[in-house]
Amino acid sequence: MKKVLLVGGAGYVGSVLAHELLERGYAVRVLDRMYFGDQGLADIRDRVEIVVGDLRAISPMVMENIEAVVNIAGLSNDPTAEYNPAANYEMNTTASVALARSCLQYGVKRYVYASSCSIYDFGVLDHQQDVLLDETADVNPRAAYSSSKFAAEKELLPLASNKFCVTALRKGTIFGFSSRMRYDLVVNTFIKDAMSKGCMRLHYGGEMWRPMVDIRDAARAYIALLQAEPDAVNGQIFNLVYGNFRISELALRIRETLHEMGIETEIRPDYAYKGVRNYRVSGEKLYRILNFRPKVSVEESVRTMVQEIRRGFCSDFENPKYYNINWMRTLEEAHKVIQVTGSVFNLREPASPLALSA
Ligand SMILES: NC(=O)c1ccc[n+]([C@@H]2O[C@H](COP(=O)([O-])OP(=O)(O)OC[C@H]3O[C@@H](n4cnc5c(N)ncnc54)[C@H](O)[C@@H]3O)[C@@H](O)[C@H]2O)c1
Repeated sequence: MKKVLLVGGAGYVGSVLAHELLERGYAVRVLDRMYFGDQGLADIRDRVEIVVGDLRAISPMVMENIEAVVNIAGLSNDPTAEYNPAANYEMNTTASVALARSCLQYGVKRYVYASSCSIYDFGVLDHQQDVLLDETADVNPRAAYSSSKFAAEKELLPLASNKFCVTALRKGTIFGFSSRMRYDLVVNTFIKDAMSKGCMRLHYGGEMWRPMVDIRDAARAYIALLQAEPDAVNGQIFNLVYGNFRISELALRIRETLHEMGIETEIRPDYAYKGVRNYRVSGEKLYRILNFRPKVSVEESVRTMVQEIRRGFCSDFENPKYYNINWMRTLEEAHKVIQVTGSVFNLREPASPLALSA
């Protein structure tokens, strides 16, 4: 049976992808640092091999019997990347490239890298560039996150050969339900705000464009790349986009869908905040070459999310674990305290004042 190594497989996208791979008969090994726990894999723990470890220090055993690697680990948004740019670069670029080199060493035939359409971001101040960008467009990413993704692509794609198939999937911003949920992605944030505060706030009036795609379509796209003839995809970049939407349009669509489900919400523009991304991206190449089109609409995905929340899943909206930057900060704070206290409730002598001040 083909075994796939999912690096970052306990994350928001990884958890959904792990389920989809199992459904299609793949054997799955997950390597994950488990920053967000293993809740996303709770119902398949007995069907996937789970290795707790870091992408930056992969042991040879992890590579054994692996046919293909999907690397969806690392820091996965702007705030976390800006918070620790050095760790971001180590994970998203250096270690991601080193992992591909290990694939070569261990005879792994394929490597799919989780890249991002944020590479195309040209900001809200340059409206002249407001065009649909494809994989051939010149890009000049400046943020730590998008730069690290682009830097990785530039080193990874030249590793392609007739023995090793390397592909980068530049995903648009994802929406939708995962059992490892994120509420720091725009559509999911709107749902959470609508259900908890009755209000969706539009930064910069919601004028900016975003390429968007549902999480199940993202999982299907990875599988399409794993199954593609190597010659069709090797050494190439593919965008993954269901549609490009102004954020204001997303809010309107969501408000209408929520209304149909009995949830009323306001939309409030907010022009104070300008740190927004703006880009429109074409997903045609994936259709042209692999006949792959995302099919889950924003409305359908919203309905699923609301149903899951109403069933009690991920409805503790304030929990920091749903917001990557909040959670990473919380872990760091907790780490500092636990270094001193040891276990939280079990009895342990407190550290000496000397150790505390050191
Ligand atoms: N979610 C999106 O909208 C989106 C869009 C484009 C690209 N991406 C990319 O897709 C990938 C998955 O995104 P996500 O939303 O699932 O993110 P996520 O943060 O939910 O998942 C990342 C997973 O990787 C693990 N991880 C992080 N650093 C690690 C390390 N050093 N070693 C091992 N495991 C590590 C985390 O524990 C987590 O389980 C990321 O690479 C992200 O940059 C995401």
